[in-house]
Amino acid sequence: MGTPLRPDLLQRLAAQTSERERANLRRRLRTIEHVEGPWLESGGRRLLGFCSNDYLGLAQHPQLIAALKRVVDDEGVGGASAHLICGHRREHAQLEEALAEWTGRERALLFSTGYMANLGTVQALLARGDVCVQDKLNHACLLDGAQLAGAELKRYPHADVAAAARQLQSRPQAAALLATDGVFSMDGDVAPLAGLAALCAREHAMLMVDDAHGLGVLGADGAGSVQAAGLGQREVPVLMATLGKALGCSGAFVAGSAALIVGLMQFARPYVYTTAMPPALAAAARAAVEVARGETWRREKLQSLIARFRAGAMQLGLPLMTSHSAIQPLLLGNAQTALAAAQALEQHGLLVTAIRPPTVPQGQARLRITLSASHEDEHVDQLLDALGSHFHGQANASSHGATGNH
Ligand SMILES: Cc1ncc(COP(=O)(O)O)c(C=O)c1O
Repeated sequence: MGTPLRPDLLQRLAAQTSERERANLRRRLRTIEHVEGPWLESGGRRLLGFCSNDYLGLAQHPQLIAALKRVVDDEGVGGASAHLICGHRREHAQLEEALAEWTGRERALLFSTGYMANLGTVQALLARGDVCVQDKLNHACLLDGAQLAGAELKRYPHADVAAAARQLQSRPQAAALLATDGVFSMDGDVAPLAGLAALCAREHAMLMVDDAHGLGVLGADGAGSVQAAGLGQREVPVLMATLGKALGCSGAFVAGSAALIVGLMQFARPYVYTTAMPPALAAAARAAVEVARGETWRREKLQSLIARFRAGAMQLGLPLMTSHSAIQPLLLGNAQTALAAAQALEQHGLLVTAIRPPTVPQGQARLRITLSASHEDEHVDQLLDALGSHFHGQANASSHGATGNH
């Protein structure tokens, strides 16, 4: 046998992993042994978490738990088949109706994850030769969707409507989708939705908003960033959001016209060729919609915690970003600094995630602090105290070892 010509795939993967390790960018998994409100147990320690996307504190809400248990008792656990075979149960249909009503759209369609919803929707709408214009900071699955569709992906600098216009105008004849996060997942700011909607109307492009981090949190009725911007189905024909963040469950949906939903049912491959979410989960998510709409105090409490954190962080001179959502990142720059800060916080009993490239651009590593209605004022104060002591006595902080990281 001669020398093998083909690269060994595992060796290549291992080399890439070592490269990440050298650059302080290796990701590690942490097992959480128990969760109770904002508290997490990991490695036998009890930590106060500021890294969950359960923004309204619904994941352990008794109404959600009761709904899930009721359907598990009656119907069992698994979805058993794809929606289009025999997996579309009454609980899915009822949840889709509730989501359409909440978001003010004709219909909604469930997907098992947000990643699949974005892949499927972008891939169903676009074809080779079309153009997909996207904010540079959009979530990975929107970008992957454009690639899967084979469309030309044109990105614009973050939140820059004029640059988005130039990208659209560079392909005036092409069918076009402009896709943006509603609330940006790593920055927490809101997209310039009114400007993007006006641009899309002028340019005959379709606007798609991924409101994974806005649904439940923003808007008078909690219906998200699009509602908060005063826009409806006409201006934002494709609205996607997840059930795994403020709604405390798992899964996602796309809402829009009946024509959009019927088309997605035919052509969105991650919808067609996958098992339906467990019906009990759909029942829990419907309970979550009711609670998110009804218990308005959760949004109010979250807003007051956000204001408290921002005021305290400003007083400490911390590198806040211009976010008024539950995502309150502190921009630290290099990966090592972010890891060291996360580790120092962990020594104070706090779990905060260090976010590093490639999740965020080079030189923009950060602590992604998230707040939830399950936090109390004193929890925010505890976080501020720990941040103050770390950033005012940074020289003492140890900078080695793995901690919450992404
Ligand atoms: C903006 C955004 N879109 C989509 C997703 C994917 O959703 P899911 O976790 O349900 O796959 C996420 C994060 O998970 C997200 O932050």
